[in-house]
Amino acid sequence: MTQVDVLLGLQWGDEGKGKIVDVLSPQYDMIARFQGGPNAGHTLEFDGKKFVLNTIPSGIFNENIMNLIGNGVVIDPIILKRELDNLKKAGHDPVATGKLVIARKAHLILPTHQLLDAANEQKMGAGKIGSTLKGIGPTYMDKTGRNGLRVGDTTLPDFKARYTKLVEKHKEILSHYEFEYDLTEKEAAFFEAIEFIKNIPHVDSEHFVNGYLKAGKKVLAEGAQGTLLDVDFGSYPFVTSSNTTTAGACTGLGIAPNKVGDVFGIFKAYCTRVGGGPFPTELDNEVGENLRQIGHEFGATTGRARRCGWIDLPALKYAIMLNGVTELIMMKADVLDGFDTIYACTHYEHNGETIDYMPYDIISIEPKPVLKAIEGWKTDLTGIRSIEQVPSQLADYIAFLEKELEVPIKYLSVGPDRTQTLTLK
Ligand code: GDP
Ligand code: IMO
Ligand code: MG
Repeated sequence: MTQVDVLLGLQWGDEGKGKIVDVLSPQYDMIARFQGGPNAGHTLEFDGKKFVLNTIPSGIFNENIMNLIGNGVVIDPIILKRELDNLKKAGHDPVATGKLVIARKAHLILPTHQLLDAANEQKMGAGKIGSTLKGIGPTYMDKTGRNGLRVGDTTLPDFKARYTKLVEKHKEILSHYEFEYDLTEKEAAFFEAIEFIKNIPHVDSEHFVNGYLKAGKKVLAEGAQGTLLDVDFGSYPFVTSSNTTTAGACTGLGIAPNKVGDVFGIFKAYCTRVGGGPFPTELDNEVGENLRQIGHEFGATTGRARRCGWIDLPALKYAIMLNGVTELIMMKADVLDGFDTIYACTHYEHNGETIDYMPYDIISIEPKPVLKAIEGWKTDLTGIRSIEQVPSQLADYIAFLEKELEVPIKYLSVGPDRTQTLTLK
């Protein structure tokens, strides 16, 4: 029997998960998304083409691989239909080839979930989460509140009645906000998309995945968001509404913890965050602006400017512990090519005391990062393809990180394209 390998983000999302899942996918028989929804934007580049996926797993461009949208994912049918329409236009039709299946236990994002997300954010004003406004929070609230609608419900004769009952409840809540809305167009698009997703096979992801494992096939679970956005362990309340950690792969697919194999933890050579919330190593200055411009740090889903800062080792160690990371993947090293000196936060300081972990009250105490200077490599990395070509300063940086983090860095990414990936181990 095989195990499920897991690939997930160790920072605040956008680490480059889509690119690496695509790169690793030939080693697997199935790629399975286990949580989050269209708040995710996973970018893939190959053969001069660029794709951004929101709900669909990043194995979709490898024709031999099955792709599963697991029960832990929340699905906006309108967005899923749009993603599939766009893929079809580009010559990829996973519905026709049978390479995409969705869990019937996955919850549906309704148009009113999005309205509730927007109304709530508007009311919070400056203190808002900075959500992606995709309705993620309200949908997971209805899931845990036991009100939600699931993919499997769409084929029931009383689906429309169930929908109406939930929407009435949402309208009642919306009446307490000063929030204008018109549902007509969205509702029509929703029901059109519901008909469309009936053409995608609905499966019980727990049986589907375990069946693959029993048959000796290899499965890779693809995370969305990042560990520091986990609803339990992230910088609460500035988090998303799902468990983005390895444990989320168990509940989001229906696999037992002892079925988890390798855990690939992916991080940028620096750090970014989009939306509100604490970010100890943030560079709200020219250096941060340089990172943003060089790294094209603008959201794949929302287009928002990402906040940029130096790599945060206490946060990474925390993420490695929570996820049981067995191998690390370092992304976007090329973005640092032009820097004379780069920095790594080794610990924080607060009131003259040293803190080497992420404190519970990180929001109120605003710990100051203590930075270690590291010599830059001043070399264009984007063309390098083998470990022998890695400049000595970068090799030193990698060795330093491996010593601090106590996990090997297996892959190094030096550009957005599939081919710009080095195997180090
Ligand atoms: P994800 O959400 O984790 O899949 O990451 P995103 O796609 O939101 O953001 C990562 C961005 O960085 C995308 O625009 C990628 O094309 C790009 N990218 C990925 N790896 C690299 C890399 O090594 N170097 C550079 N310069 N860009 C990269
Ligand atoms: P990928 O998978 C980066 C952030 C939002 C906001 C918070 C809550 O592409 O890495 P939500 O819409 O989930 O209620 O927003 O989480 N966020 C992400 N940031 N990458 C993502 O996904 C994100 N998904 C949500 O910006 O701060
Ligand atoms: Mg992203």
